[in-house]
Amino acid sequence: MNDVRLEVALSVGIIMAQGVRGTRDFYPEDMRLRNWLFDNFDDAALLHGFEEYDAPVLEHEELYTRKQGEEITQQLYNFLDKGDRKVALRPEMTPSLARMVMSRAGALPMPIKWYSIPQCWRYERTQRGRGREHYQWNVDIWGTNEISADAELISVLVTFFEGVGLTEEDLVIRMSSRKVLEEVLGSLGIVGDMFAQTCIIVDKMDKLPADIVSEQLSTLGIEENAIKTIQSTLGIKDMDSLRSMLGEESPAVIELTSLFSALDAYGISEWIEFDASIVRGLAYYTGPVFEAHDRAGELRAICGGGRYDKLLSTLGGKDLPATGFGFGDMVIMELLAEKGLVPELTSGNDDVVISLSPELRNAAMHVASSLRARGRSVDLVLENKRLKWAFKHAERSGAQRLVMVMPDEWKDGKVRIKDLETGEETNVDVESL
Ligand code: HAM
Repeated sequence: MNDVRLEVALSVGIIMAQGVRGTRDFYPEDMRLRNWLFDNFDDAALLHGFEEYDAPVLEHEELYTRKQGEEITQQLYNFLDKGDRKVALRPEMTPSLARMVMSRAGALPMPIKWYSIPQCWRYERTQRGRGREHYQWNVDIWGTNEISADAELISVLVTFFEGVGLTEEDLVIRMSSRKVLEEVLGSLGIVGDMFAQTCIIVDKMDKLPADIVSEQLSTLGIEENAIKTIQSTLGIKDMDSLRSMLGEESPAVIELTSLFSALDAYGISEWIEFDASIVRGLAYYTGPVFEAHDRAGELRAICGGGRYDKLLSTLGGKDLPATGFGFGDMVIMELLAEKGLVPELTSGNDDVVISLSPELRNAAMHVASSLRARGRSVDLVLENKRLKWAFKHAERSGAQRLVMVMPDEWKDGKVRIKDLETGEETNVDVESL
């Protein structure tokens, strides 16, 4: 919105009802779904022995100023705070996690298996599955370079997918290793920062026309022959072709072979496909990389991650092996909706308590309090309402019982209870509620 439109909108009160573009409000019905999704994130991570951590949404801007030209660093929500410090809203969690690990380096018993569900901010072009804020489930293992850590992460992912009812027919986890391109490009003299920049450019292959990608690669100083080699390497979709291109002794082939064998041991190979075009658009990845995509190919990546053994030295620390993934809350909800897997959730209250005469308001409060003291969640009707309204309200909110405080019953020390599942009504002693 430009300044003039903003002023007009403010003057007529429009702006107050609207949030900032690309951000979302969560009404209770949205919050129920968000909590359901997060509970499934929690469950999959906890089942695998991960522990939860958190960090502030505001960080020093320098934490994200990497020089390889990643989109993420161009999309930063950064500003000067009142003390003239350059700060930014985190666009991703990995640098904060690296900072936390670095500041306790040596004191943390390794390996660590941590997860978090932070809100992340990126000034992106808003589109289906992409907003300017999103929640991103992060699951990471630090302190081991064993391939079993990478396999364990895929097991967390598959456990989550199964938990929400998705199958390997709905989506695929495409996997490769940065080492594939590293070997090919290393032999052409493309190493270090130039290699990272090449990965960032080729990551856009499926979003940009081939000639634009080639142009960007040649701007980087990569010759035509090398560009052709890159393109043909990225076209490889099976391990046998990779083996015949790089040879059995290739570190990339050895690494991926043992990763696929581990995934076989978990019994989850049918979810995974080798695809050399997966390189990921962040500079710091060094080993296996993966992304989950819907099989129909209609949505953006569901999640993405990989090994990043060299991140700490870019932040001034001593390197530690690490691997992990980030999983946004937006694309997955699109996919679940498409597959009819979004659950219908209600408030989940146990009881609705209503007094059916104004004089019994205090009695209803007493009943609600004693039910709450017994651990039942109670929605007490706060105004004079008719019984018909109370039935509808209790049903809509998914309560188990409607507890009615009525004059005659109350005189006898009883309340009337309607079981909303069976429809059965009984009078029950207040003492034995
Ligand atoms: P990323 O690929 O930039 O990786 O993001 C990971 C996931 O976050 C994406 O696959 C998508 O689900 C979600 N996501 C990213 N941007 C948006 C957006 N604007 N709107 C909605 N969802 C979005 C990382 O951020 C790495 N730090 C992940 C990681 C953790 N690697 C190792 N550990």
